[in-house]
Amino acid sequence: MIRLTYASTAVMDFNPENLLTLLKICRVNNAAKNITGILLYLHGTFFQVLEGDEAAVDATFEAIKQDTRHKNVTLIEKLPITERVFPYWSLGFVKLEAKELSGIEGFNHFFEKDLTPASLVSHKQVIAPLLAYLHSKLLKQVTLESTEQPSVQHEELPVQHEDPFIQLLHRIIRLGLKFLALLMVIVILFGIMDVVYVIFEKITLPPFMLMTINDMLETFGAFLAVLIAVEIFLNITVYIRSDVIPVNLVVATALMAISRKIIVFDYKELPAEYVNASALVVIALGITYWLIQSKE
Ligand SMILES: Cc1cc2nc3c(=O)[nH]c(=O)nc-3n(C[C@H](O)[C@H](O)[C@H](O)COP(=O)(O)O)c2cc1C
Repeated sequence: MIRLTYASTAVMDFNPENLLTLLKICRVNNAAKNITGILLYLHGTFFQVLEGDEAAVDATFEAIKQDTRHKNVTLIEKLPITERVFPYWSLGFVKLEAKELSGIEGFNHFFEKDLTPASLVSHKQVIAPLLAYLHSKLLKQVTLESTEQPSVQHEELPVQHEDPFIQLLHRIIRLGLKFLALLMVIVILFGIMDVVYVIFEKITLPPFMLMTINDMLETFGAFLAVLIAVEIFLNITVYIRSDVIPVNLVVATALMAISRKIIVFDYKELPAEYVNASALVVIALGITYWLIQSKE
């Protein structure tokens, strides 16, 4: 096996589209010949490493030399190797900023202005640190890609709908939702005042400064009512956002609402069927919520 390194000068401006077209062809060809490597493009200069069987790499390099999209194709190194530096990439691609190069250990600032095939040939000592840097850069790209959250396509009431009429309707509903959200904030504020009032009432009525169990349950009820109001507020605003799938929140709100009822159940008065049915609803909602959460 050999590793061949060369640099060249682009004769045209390679925009992302041109580069992608080039990379697609290269990757298919290289994979078929069991060639791996990397391509770096920076300010009109290509730097490429090709690894594989000597005959295959030589043949590819011959084809590359004939390519009229670049000139000054200059061989920098051709070395026998036992191990590939870029085993996982038929042709990894790295976009670098010039100032990034100066941060690489062993690099000098002259490359910021002058990364040409000739300068690379006359500074061969930079090739090893450059390869190590490019390798780490490719690995980082892989890590980033695999940890990136999938982009969320979901959007309730999109304002970018292709039909302008639907677009208008969505805008109106969104406005209505904003108004509802505002009203909900007012309700929440009233709910908070209610909690304060309930606590005040319970401790000022005889027995003074004491709360019975029933007083406490009533106070909890007032607290939970506010929390449910907050959940409903979130439900409303979810429709204006695009990054949340509301089912999660709807189930959570329902779970909270039924739990609130259960906390303040008066078992002396409620029929057994009612309690059993409520238990079933809690179990069903609990399982649903757990399933949604574990999927996320
Ligand atoms: C900077 C540069 C790098 C290239 N690298 C490769 C490469 O790694 N593998 C490859 O097959 N072709 C590469 N090419 C393309 C070749 O020059 C040539 O267009 C291609 O091999 C022809 O493929 P085809 O016979 O399938 O049309 C490169 C071209 C340029 C300008």
